[in-house]
Amino acid sequence: GLALVAVSGYRSYSKQKTLYTRSVERNGQEKADTMSARPGASEHQLGLGIDLSCASLDNDLTSKFARKAEGKWVAEHCAEYGFIIRYKAEWSDITGYQGEPWHIRYVGTLHATWIAQMDVPFETYLAYLELVWKQQAATP
Ligand code: DAL
Ligand code: ZN
Repeated sequence: GLALVAVSGYRSYSKQKTLYTRSVERNGQEKADTMSARPGASEHQLGLGIDLSCASLDNDLTSKFARKAEGKWVAEHCAEYGFIIRYKAEWSDITGYQGEPWHIRYVGTLHATWIAQMDVPFETYLAYLELVWKQQAATP
C-alpha cells in the first residue's frame, strides 16, 4: 500500500560531473565530498544505485525519508529484493558520506541478506569477504 518514487537511477559520467560540480559550488569541496560522489566514483554510474522518495516528501531526497512509512519499509524489506541501505549516518566515518537513507544499492539477495543481518557498511563486508577468500586460498 505504499508508493515509492524512484528519483534517480543510472547516471552518466557527465551527469554525475554536473551534480558534483554544482555541489562543490554550493557547499565547497570538503562538504561536497561527503554528499556527492566524484564523477567516476558513483554507484549511480554503475547502474546499481537508486535514490528513493515518496509523495509526502515532494519526492525530495531528505533524511526525513528514514522516519516515513515508506523509508521504514525500504529499510526493513529492501534486502528481500537484493538491495542494501548503502550510507547510514552512523557509518559516515567508513563510507565517507553523510547519511542517505534514500540511497539503495543492488548487491543481490544473498549478500543483501547477510549485510542487513550483520548491519555493517558495504566496505566492512567486502573487507570481511576478502579475509575469508584469503584464508580459503591459504587452506590446502
Ligand atoms: N550521493 C551519492 C554518494 C552519489 O553521488 O553517488
Ligand atoms: Zn544515490
